[in-house]
Amino acid sequence: MESSKVLVLYAHPSPHRSEVNKQLFRAAKQIDGVTVVDLYHEYPTYHIDIDKEQQRLREHDVIIFQFPLYWYSTPAILKEWQDLVLEYGFAYGHDANALHGKLFFCSLSAGGKADAYQSDGYNHFTIRQLLYPLEQMASLTGMTYLAPFALFGARTAKEDGRIQLHVEKWRRLLRALVAGQVDIEQANQVDKLNHYVKQHLMGEER
Ligand SMILES: Cc1cc2nc3c(=O)[nH]c(=O)nc-3n(C[C@H](O)[C@H](O)[C@H](O)COP(=O)(O)O)c2cc1C
Repeated sequence: MESSKVLVLYAHPSPHRSEVNKQLFRAAKQIDGVTVVDLYHEYPTYHIDIDKEQQRLREHDVIIFQFPLYWYSTPAILKEWQDLVLEYGFAYGHDANALHGKLFFCSLSAGGKADAYQSDGYNHFTIRQLLYPLEQMASLTGMTYLAPFALFGARTAKEDGRIQLHVEKWRRLLRALVAGQVDIEQANQVDKLNHYVKQHLMGEER
């Protein structure tokens, strides 16, 4: 299988207070073939360099938004990034195919527990449903969308000792993506990418 270049667009407004995403960010930076961009660090005043971001997109095969869930959505800079970077003529519209065939998904953490993100749960919707605008953004721009890779109950993850395993799953997922070893059809059958990683990538070290 062909190897892929992976782009992680990381958005955390208070990274110094992060317990979960900080560690995912560090782990991703250490993997060959993965480019990690810290959007709030690079653009503290939200003056996003559109040409630079579009070039980054062209140069990668897998695009990942990594963020803590804020008000059931992304932190603001990822919305601004979409509004500015995904221009007509580049990402969509007549003859625009810069993103066609790329893979897109979200890697997120949420304070709420997993069972709160159900139709009969506290938050009424699943995480995949809440992220439908991003799923449709991927569809409109010709990207293949995968379900989110998510850690729930993020505020107690550290004291519960759940971060380490999640970071290890993240490493395996990124390495498999770089190596072109993620089976898209199988990965498409789960409601959270975590399940795919657990079932297919947590065996023996590759
Ligand atoms: C402004 C704000 C909005 C938040 N909104 C949500 C939310 O809608 N749903 C949720 O489950 N958690 C929400 N949280 C909790 C964060 O998702 C949680 O603290 C974060 O994922 C922890 O990751 P970190 O350790 O990397 O900061 C919110 C937190 C803040 C500060």
